[in-house]
Amino acid sequence: MPFKFLTLEVADRVAILWINRPDKLNALNDAMIAELGQAIDAIRVDNSIAGVLVTGKGRAFVAGADIAELAGQTPVVAKGRARAGQDVFRRIETCPKPVIAVINGFALGGGCELAMACHVRIASDAAKFGQPESKLGLLPGFGGSQRLSRLVGKGRAMQLLMTGEMIDAAEAYRIGLVNKVVPAGELMGAAHEMMKAILANGPLAVALCIEAVDRGLEMSLDEGLILEANHFGLLAATDDMREGTKAFLEKRAPAFKGK
Ligand code: COA
Repeated sequence: MPFKFLTLEVADRVAILWINRPDKLNALNDAMIAELGQAIDAIRVDNSIAGVLVTGKGRAFVAGADIAELAGQTPVVAKGRARAGQDVFRRIETCPKPVIAVINGFALGGGCELAMACHVRIASDAAKFGQPESKLGLLPGFGGSQRLSRLVGKGRAMQLLMTGEMIDAAEAYRIGLVNKVVPAGELMGAAHEMMKAILANGPLAVALCIEAVDRGLEMSLDEGLILEANHFGLLAATDDMREGTKAFLEKRAPAFKGK
């Protein structure tokens, strides 16, 4: 699929989705949001792809929405822009295949929001994070005001949103914004290693873990527990559950088929 602002590489069932507009620090314009939507939809149905690494070309992951586009927006255009970005990021978040944000540099504004929409975040020790929209007289429009508080708690989200301050990778790790921080040179290797560990597991189980956490967070505990029990029951109908439990008892590695 030809993209103007993205590059999609696939090797060994792992897609690497590069945000590729390095001269503007990968700032997300409307066309890039649309391309991201096309890419995630294609990845979702492509049987040759089992998981996705999302990363940025150059020295940024994504330095935010394209401020040149935001500058002239009317209320109606701004709302449409926010809804379009929210929709694409939600499609990433609900993708049944694991999506890891591999944060190589600045993850600001829409970049931090994109990273938060991914299932897991691994950062280079050179990465920087922030939601600086209030410095522009705005607030995040791609889900940041909602996902940040869910990830790091109300007080820390309030601080980051209201001050617009930039934090380094160590602080992002300390507050739970990222799962892991590694030296810059080890970033892609660490991301592949985590993806490999995920892809060694039953793909149906992984997909239902994503759904249970994603949906469950928005439910009462009782509703979430029913959801979990239903998923547990559903997986008991799969060949993969038979294979996984049998392989353990036979002291061998399982061979999952996603059935
Ligand atoms: N939108 C549009 N263009 C952006 C951008 C954004 N969010 N972030 C960076 N760029 C562009 C710059 O305008 C510059 O373009 P130019 O070379 O044509 O002038 C280029 O990317 C390089 O950025 P520059 O600011 O020169 O790099 P820097 O190392 O001095 O600073 C940042 C890096 C990330 C601190 C700075 O670019 C920045 O603050 N960006 C905006 C972050 C932001 O507010 N994001 C939220 C948007 S809602």
